[in-house]
Amino acid sequence: MASKTTKTTWPTDFIWGVSTSSYQIEGAAREDGRAPSIWDTRCRTQGKVANGDTGDVACDHYHRYAEDVALMKGLGIDAYRFSVAWPRVLPKGKGQINATGLDFYDRLIDALLEAGIEPWLCLYHWDLPQALDDLGGWTVRDSAGWFADYAALVARRYGDRVKRWATFNEFSVFTLFGYAMDWNAPGIVDREAHLKAIHHVNMAHGAGIDVLRALVPGASIGAVHNRQRVWPEHDTDADRAAAQMLDAHWNRAFPDPQLLGHYPPEIAEAIDPYVRGGDLARISRPMDWFGLNHYGPIFAKSDPNGVWGFAWGSPPEDAPKSDIGWPIFPEAFRDELIDLTRIYRLPIYVTENGAGGGDAPNAAGEVDDPQRVSYLTSYTAAMQEAMQAGADVRGYFVWSLLDNFEWGSGYANRFGLVYVDFATQQRIPKTSYRWYAKLIAGAKHAPRTRRA
Ligand code: FCB
Repeated sequence: MASKTTKTTWPTDFIWGVSTSSYQIEGAAREDGRAPSIWDTRCRTQGKVANGDTGDVACDHYHRYAEDVALMKGLGIDAYRFSVAWPRVLPKGKGQINATGLDFYDRLIDALLEAGIEPWLCLYHWDLPQALDDLGGWTVRDSAGWFADYAALVARRYGDRVKRWATFNEFSVFTLFGYAMDWNAPGIVDREAHLKAIHHVNMAHGAGIDVLRALVPGASIGAVHNRQRVWPEHDTDADRAAAQMLDAHWNRAFPDPQLLGHYPPEIAEAIDPYVRGGDLARISRPMDWFGLNHYGPIFAKSDPNGVWGFAWGSPPEDAPKSDIGWPIFPEAFRDELIDLTRIYRLPIYVTENGAGGGDAPNAAGEVDDPQRVSYLTSYTAAMQEAMQAGADVRGYFVWSLLDNFEWGSGYANRFGLVYVDFATQQRIPKTSYRWYAKLIAGAKHAPRTRRA
């Protein structure tokens, strides 16, 4: 149960952090033995990423990680969630290990620990080695074993220093967008491929948990799920049905088998041909926490040409929106947190939350981002309301530390607390950086309550 927090206090052991991911910030795409991922390939496919942007250089974090850790220290965060780039440590995805690639994460982890920041390691944030996609990627049942072997390598190497582990980031986004909508790599649009990918990624998750439990003493293991309310664009039967199907894919296709032991009824029959005896038991391994990535509600409309009969709908015109048009509904975040505690009964860490914009420095060279400050203020207040109503929230990570490569939008959507000038790689902390540092300092110094 949640503690007796009040408007001005947070539990003493509440964890404040920021999140990033490998392909979005590291750069050094062809350096020190790293091989291409499916996102390197997608970036080179005409018309798939805005402006022809690529992650070749990104925030050059591979070389500038020490400066970035110093920025984290300045925020006063407790924890940093990052991901390991599979093709940096296993260029072909399996087999030959790239020792130089492994060394990079040693340096990063050691710098974090030295700065008093706990590393939270996510094994997969969408950058599948291209060599594995050439073998069929997640549509192949063997992919669960490839993932388990990769997880074992990473666990053996860093498990002495890293105790917080996540298997995957946003299962449903990369499978739905990657295998049914062509919004993410590998850009396949095929119902059967999508169903296989869902099931195999679930199998990989279960196998990954077993490996982490066996190899990392004292590991605290979770998975990072995107969940948001799905609302029909119009109040019609067709749009309501579309919203229900999108909800099954977006919100339930992964947490339900992983934590409740069954697929959502809307897709269970379709996925059944790919499920073998014992699979669900292998998928639903005990977990220590639920990672929630949440931005705002999404809207669905009926589309008979869509693989699943839905398409992305638009939010109401008068809905409050961020600079990049994402709807802002803190109450939906509050309700989501309350529901999650009831449905899955695990401690929750909000592993991503934030707002995108087109931030730019002013004449004085400062980056003022009042819209992000107002978004984060209202969402952290909603989180506190949820906790008062019984939601078991244990920590909160802002997406993101730095402006970075924002997938199909390239560098145009900036989510950072720190502005990055991509021409010079200069970092400029924004107003929201100072706002977050103050929130954390206040949370740590206010008279505090303990979790009951
Ligand atoms: C999430 C992703 C993250 C970033 C944010 C804005 O879906 O996990 O990499 O793109 O959205």
